[in-house]
Amino acid sequence: MRRLRRTGLLRGLVRETELSPAHLVYPMFVRHGLDGRVPIVSMPGIDHLSVGAAVDEAGEAAALGIPAVLLFGLPAAKDEEGSGAWDEGGIVQTATRAIKAQHPDLLVITDLCLCEYTSHGHCGVLRDDGVVDNDLTLELLARTAVSQAEAGADLVAPSDMMDGRVGALRGALDDRGLAETPIMAYSAKYASAFYGPFREAAESAPSKGDRRGYQMDPANALEGVREAQLDADEGADVLMVKPALPYLDVIRRVKDATNLPVAAYNVSGEYAMLKAAAAAGLLDERAAVLEAIIGIRRAGADIVITYHAKDISRWLS
Ligand code: PBG
Repeated sequence: MRRLRRTGLLRGLVRETELSPAHLVYPMFVRHGLDGRVPIVSMPGIDHLSVGAAVDEAGEAAALGIPAVLLFGLPAAKDEEGSGAWDEGGIVQTATRAIKAQHPDLLVITDLCLCEYTSHGHCGVLRDDGVVDNDLTLELLARTAVSQAEAGADLVAPSDMMDGRVGALRGALDDRGLAETPIMAYSAKYASAFYGPFREAAESAPSKGDRRGYQMDPANALEGVREAQLDADEGADVLMVKPALPYLDVIRRVKDATNLPVAAYNVSGEYAMLKAAAAAGLLDERAAVLEAIIGIRRAGADIVITYHAKDISRWLS
């Protein structure tokens, strides 16, 4: 095989996997009541953004050839139910309208979950015994999906892991005349330590307990495929595996087992790890990031959601 590696031209001719900005989604954190931007300490290079700053940041991503942003919101106030999530004037709805008004050709994907909006930080409403009430949560998620789509979201991305949510969201969207809004489901979402920096950024760490009652056991791959198949049966348009790097085998299995587009979420901890190693002079950031992300593509991800998206686009141009 060495014959095929002799020159760059030959290597290019036989390359199996491509990485381009066209495959990337750039996540952003929009915060109520902010003026401009404030760096997120746990995620070097990523900021909390005001609505205005989010519009600018989205424009920068679009100019770099990135087709989509994924929005997370930090609301004015949190409560037991997470009512800020479906507020028509909520932070994500407001930012979605503002971004679509300025950058109509950029896709806006909205993260759909209650954990950034609940006072206890869980992804759904809690019963008296402290366990998440699956079915009650479904109703609130459905309201949130409708409000996000009505604000102009191009795709909604449920990240809560409640049972039956894709079907519930599909039904609610269809009933409101939003049948054209696709669902990108966080299908195989593992209970992962790699969400640590995000929870600091989104101020969404559960105040009590953990998410193992609804997120998946890292030891299970077939269960990830089952979750993905269920979401596909319920009407998901894109299936997601999250995190990415410790779960490359799950990405491959989901890709092989279904015929829907597969997205992988290169999460905050994966990002922070490479940023920290690079800052300490232990790794060449550019080479390490490009290798990690092409690895995720090679494993079968059609779409990669990554905080490195802007850097990657600059490096590739
Ligand atoms: C929550 C949500 C999480 C992430 C995306 N949506 C965190 C969690 O489940 O605790 C993590 C993203 C990241 O770590 O970059 N609904």
